[in-house]
Amino acid sequence: MEKWIKKIMQFGGLFLFMSCNQPVDVVTIDLSREEAEIPPSLYGIFFEEITHSGDGGLYAEMIRNRGFEDGTLPSGTVLKDGKAVAKPLHCYSNDSINHFSIAWNDSLFMESWEVKCVSDTRPPFYEITEVKPLNNATPHALFIDLGASASDVWVMNDGYWGIAVTEGQRYNFQFYLFTEELKNTVVTAALLDREEQIVVSKNFQIERDGSWNHYEGTFTVDTTANDLRFALLLPHKGKVYIDFVSMFPENTFCGHKNGLREDVAGMLRDLRPDFVRWPGGCIVEGLTMDNRIKWKEMIGDIVKRPGEYNLWGYRSTYGFGYHEFLQFCEDIDADGMFVCNAGMSCLFRNGDYWEEENRIDNLIQDALDAIEYALGDTTTVYGKRRAENGHAAPFPLKYVEVGNENVGLRYVKNYNRFYKAIKEKYPQIEVVCALMFSPYIQEAEKIDILDPHYYETAGWFYNNADVYDKLPDDIPYKIYVGEYAAIGRPSLYSSLAEAAYLTGVERNADKVQMVSYAPLIENAAHGKDHLLVLKNDSVYGRTNYYVLKM
Ligand code: AHR
Repeated sequence: MEKWIKKIMQFGGLFLFMSCNQPVDVVTIDLSREEAEIPPSLYGIFFEEITHSGDGGLYAEMIRNRGFEDGTLPSGTVLKDGKAVAKPLHCYSNDSINHFSIAWNDSLFMESWEVKCVSDTRPPFYEITEVKPLNNATPHALFIDLGASASDVWVMNDGYWGIAVTEGQRYNFQFYLFTEELKNTVVTAALLDREEQIVVSKNFQIERDGSWNHYEGTFTVDTTANDLRFALLLPHKGKVYIDFVSMFPENTFCGHKNGLREDVAGMLRDLRPDFVRWPGGCIVEGLTMDNRIKWKEMIGDIVKRPGEYNLWGYRSTYGFGYHEFLQFCEDIDADGMFVCNAGMSCLFRNGDYWEEENRIDNLIQDALDAIEYALGDTTTVYGKRRAENGHAAPFPLKYVEVGNENVGLRYVKNYNRFYKAIKEKYPQIEVVCALMFSPYIQEAEKIDILDPHYYETAGWFYNNADVYDKLPDDIPYKIYVGEYAAIGRPSLYSSLAEAAYLTGVERNADKVQMVSYAPLIENAAHGKDHLLVLKNDSVYGRTNYYVLKM
């Protein structure tokens, strides 16, 4: 029998060939020809806070709208007729006035929260207020006049489309209360099921009145569920302010406090990316200049991080901040690429820009400070800050990108200034130019790396697998395709199309030295068509994730 199996294996191809009359495709492999060497830097990842990739995604925070700040207007806008309206400033690309605005609703302040009385009768009075700020960066808090309620009061949070827990795991939570007339009473923190039955709880004795007090505890759960709510049970007497309610699984990726989800971060680590580009993307540019990402607000105590409306339709907590990004790079042995604002907001939004020398100088200084935070020793201002935040050794920052998807002369002028200042102080940093295909490239004094983006149809990727064969041999900079994707829902077809395109990248890897797919992660509840799809209790990769893994 075994002999026969061997024979069939040996001649299997021949039998197959004889048994069907199909034309035969021939693949010739010429081992004598050498193509470009693949640089270790070739495959990386690009993370942007979009479709809840961070908050409600990679970032392990389980309470949504933890600081009651979600209704805060995007910086640089004012509320007018139900819209957040940007100042009518000229757009940097063509001097038009974009009159940018988005629909806005104050109810966002209560996003994911519900206040009700336990007996389902007369609810308490509650509102979001700035009267008792926990700190200046996060001025809003939830005020409740508990005495106005018919019975004890539940303050409940849905998390990011339900709170998921696993039997036997521990979850660390915290909250702040400012109480009036609550001294010597008990407040209960609990996880509730959909019938409002307590799954697990912990009591806290309120000891001090008339000031903000911090409470923290741990739940150990003996069930697995994905539709729980976090709740505080308060007595129906007195008045209370609540702020910064937060809960994390004790097990986070590499065990960091304020850490990342183990399963999601593990999927990214498994791609073995050589670098991580962060934090964007359009959110680096912002709806307006004021709305741009500000890394200095993304380090240190998470209670004091203000967050910002992130132009993809929700507010970022800034919890997965600059420090956490650098820590993630270190954890997965990748180089960091920090993207900074180049003095202009997104041209598809308000597009306003800064041109005064001192304002651009400040932005350049901000980028230099970011580099110092990552690389400086502890005698430097920002190196010291990094050490205070728990990491004395430098982080692996290798690249800085100036802007994102920019066009025109205004950009190039700023880019030249950034380039010079960065190289003078940090010659080892490779500077990435974000100019999209543009004649103004001639005006750039020096480019280390150029970052064009490709969002095209699957057919385009198939038909343009040779696009980089046409690059001149003496191209004076490296190419980094920072964002590419076949548009639409990834399928086997589009994944193969992207794979075909990547063969062209690899064939020309002496010129195209880096590449990263975009966007990386989606929360299924906020769904789009991204590489990794997650829910509160699971994550999977689409077919193109596996293309990249191969
Ligand atoms: O990946 C989503 C967006 O697409 C990025 O923020 C931007 O750079 C590109 O236009």
